[in-house]
Parts: sequence; C-alpha cells; structure tokens
Amino acid sequence: MVREVLIYPDRRLKLISHDVESFDAKLHTLLEDMKETMYASDGIGLAAIQIGVAQNVLVINLPDEDGEQTLESLEEIINPVILEAHGSVTYQEGCLSIPSVYEDVERKESIRVRYFDRDGGMIEKELEGLMAIAFQHELDHLQGHLFIEKLSYLKRKKFEKEWKKKIKEGK
Ligand code: CO
Repeated sequence: MVREVLIYPDRRLKLISHDVESFDAKLHTLLEDMKETMYASDGIGLAAIQIGVAQNVLVINLPDEDGEQTLESLEEIINPVILEAHGSVTYQEGCLSIPSVYEDVERKESIRVRYFDRDGGMIEKELEGLMAIAFQHELDHLQGHLFIEKLSYLKRKKFEKEWKKKIKEGK
C-alpha cells in the first residue's frame, strides 16, 4: 500500500527510530509499503520514519545505467550500523520529505556496514559510490536528521525562507 510521505517540517521526522526485534509478517508488510511508496514517489531510498514508523528500516533501490530500478539492486536494510568510514565525497542530494530541493552534501566516500535482511540474516559489506551516499542519507533519517542540516548557515537560511513561501503557496 502506498503510504503518505511526511513532509518537512513534520515533527515526526525528528524522532529517533528503534531497532526491529521481530522479523515477522508485520515487518514484511512495512517493507512492501515502503517500496510501493518509494516507487510511487520516484525515490531511490526511503526510511520507515518518512511514512511515520519509527523503526530502523530502510529501502534503497538505485537505478542502473538505463535508469531502471531493477529488483537486483533493491536493498532491504534492517537495523543498520556503520562499522567503518573512509574518505569524503560531495554529491547533490534530494529527499522525498523535502521535494524538489537538491543541495550538495558531504559524506564519507566508502563505508563498511552491517545490517539484517527481512528474515533476520546478518549482512556485512563495503559500500561506495552512490550506494554509500544513499545509505548515509537514509541512516541519518533514523536518527531524526535531514540532509538540510548539513548545509552552511546561509544556505540553510535561504532554504528555510523559500520553503516557508512554498508551503504557504500550497507547494
Ligand atoms: Co531523505
């Protein structure tokens, strides 16, 4: 089921999410809803809190060279942690909770991560490129953080002003 994506400055986006304890049918339904919602909004990643569920669950599906989001590149990520991080890289990020805003953000270039799949199987791997960036962006959501918090003071002020105007005008 496609769920409503919370839009900034919805206060629920500031909640700290909690680890999943049961890898059960309820989790699987949440994952299906998150994927449907991500595809319906043309996103490449979504955190559960973006549909109002404060659990450490992410979905990421990067497009391939043809711009298609295939099942092979679909990642369901439960209770993620970053074990190691190296380097830095700047990339223009966007977020389904802040539609139509794209800003350069600095992230770690490569990360070693651990998470669980939908059945509770543990996965450890190295990520780099866009996958590493998307993972860090989505992980921030689980701590109640949004990418706009990483902007410089002036850029953030400009964003807030434009965003207020946009909301007032009904988007
Ligand atoms: Co986001």
